Amino acid sequence: MDNNRILLSEKDLVQRWYNVAADLPKPCAPPLNPGTGQPLTPDMLTPIFPMALIEQEVSQERWIEIPDPVREVLKLWRPTPLHRAFNLEKALGTPARIYYKNESLSPPGSHKPNTAVAQVYYNKQAGIKRISTETGAGQWGSALAFACSKFGVECTVYMVKVSYEQKPMRKSLMHIWNAEVFPSPTDRTNSGRAFRQRFPGTTGSLGMAISEAVEDAATHEDTNYSLGSVLNHVMLHQTVIGLEAKKQFEIAGDYPDILIACAGGGSNFSGFTFPFVPDKLKGKEIRIIAAEPAACPSLTKGPFRYDFGDTGKMTPLLKMHTLGHVFVPPGIHAGGLRYHGMAPLVSHLKDLGIIEATALNQIECFEAGILFARTEGTIPAPETTHAIRAAVVEALKCKETGEEKCIAFNFSGHGHLDLSAYDKYYEKALEDYEYPEELIKQALKEVPEVK
Ligand SMILES: Cc1ncc(COP(=O)(O)O)c(C=O)c1O
Repeated sequence: MDNNRILLSEKDLVQRWYNVAADLPKPCAPPLNPGTGQPLTPDMLTPIFPMALIEQEVSQERWIEIPDPVREVLKLWRPTPLHRAFNLEKALGTPARIYYKNESLSPPGSHKPNTAVAQVYYNKQAGIKRISTETGAGQWGSALAFACSKFGVECTVYMVKVSYEQKPMRKSLMHIWNAEVFPSPTDRTNSGRAFRQRFPGTTGSLGMAISEAVEDAATHEDTNYSLGSVLNHVMLHQTVIGLEAKKQFEIAGDYPDILIACAGGGSNFSGFTFPFVPDKLKGKEIRIIAAEPAACPSLTKGPFRYDFGDTGKMTPLLKMHTLGHVFVPPGIHAGGLRYHGMAPLVSHLKDLGIIEATALNQIECFEAGILFARTEGTIPAPETTHAIRAAVVEALKCKETGEEKCIAFNFSGHGHLDLSAYDKYYEKALEDYEYPEELIKQALKEVPEVK
C-alpha cells in the first residue's frame, strides 16, 4: 500500500533558502522612494528593518544560508509532511493524484512562523527590543508573537478590527505568547486617528493596520517593524516549504503537473511554488496557480503598477498587482486574503506568464473545505479553502478528461480558531461577493502615476 504521508527527518531540514530573483528571465522592478520617484536605497529602510533583512530584500544570490538558531526553532515542527489525499481523491472519483503540504502543524497553526522566526532572529541580533506588526485573521500576529517569545523580544500587534471581533481566540494566542494586541484603526497612532476620521465606523483593513505598525516602529528607536507577507525576504523564508516538498516528491517517485496555493500577500504561494520555478524555466510542464478570493481579486483584476503598500502612504512604492491602497475589502471570512496588493515577485511572475491566477467565491471554498475536513480530517483555515477549491476544480477536470495528473497544493493553515466562519456557512449567513470593477477604478484614481 502507498504511504498517506511522505515524511522527512529533522536532519533533512533545509540548510538554505532559495531566492527566485536569481533565476528570473527579467529582473523585478525596484521599489521606489515616493518622494523622488527614484529607486529606494537600502539605508532608507534602516529605521524599520535590520540590515540583514534589507540585504535579503535586494539579494540576487540564489541560495542564502539559514542561521542555526533559526533552524533550531523551525525544528519544533519542521520538516512538515507531504500528504497524499487518497480519501479526497476517492470522494471526488478523480484519476488525479492529489498531494498537500501540511503547514498547519506549526505551533500557531500556519506557514507564517517560517518567516516570523527568521525575522525576529535578525532583529534580536540587531539589538531590537520590540517589534510592531499588523495582522488580518490573526495568523500572522500569533506567529510573530510566538517567534518573539522564543527570542525574548516584545511584540505589539495591530489587528484589523473586523478580525479582532470575529476571531477573539487568535487574540488569546497572542496574549499567551506575551504580545499586546489592539483593534486597528486605533487612536494610538496619527495614522489610526486619521483613518477613523476619514472612514467613520470602518472595520479596518490590512493597509490601515500596516500604516499604524510602521508608524509605531518609525517613531520608537528600540522598535522595528515586521511584515508577514509581500516583501521579497518573506517569500525567501517561506521557500523551506517547497524545498522540502521537492525532496518529498523525489521520495514518492512523483512530480507535480499542477501546483496550487492560496494568495493573500503571496507568501505561502511563493514558499510552496518558487523552488519549482527553475524546473519550469528549464522546460518542465508545470502549471502554477494562485487562488484568490473574488472579493479581493488583486491578481486577476488589479492592474500591475506602482502603488503604496499601505493606506497611509508610509511605505515605498512597490510594483505589484493592486486594487489601490485605499481599497477597503468586504468582510469575507478569509481575513488573510484581504490585502489590496500582491507580492512584487508574485506579480512579476504573473506578468512574465510563469504563474497564473484564479478568483473563487467564498461559498464554493467553504464547501471544498468541508469536503476536505470530512475526507482528510483536518479543518482548513478559510484562506486555505481557496487552494483546496482550486485543486478540486482541477481534479474534477481530470475526472472529465480521464487524465491522471499530479495536483499538489499547500495546506497553509488549520481553521480551529475560525469555527465561527464555518458556523456562518451552516447558518447560510455567508454571501458571495465579487468586487465591482467600478470600485476598483475609483480606488485606482488615488494611485500615483509613475512613468
Ligand atoms: C492560513 C493562511 N493562509 C494564507 C494566508 C495568506 O497569506 P499569504 O498570501 O502571505 O500566504 C494567510 C494570511 O493570514 C493565512 O493565515
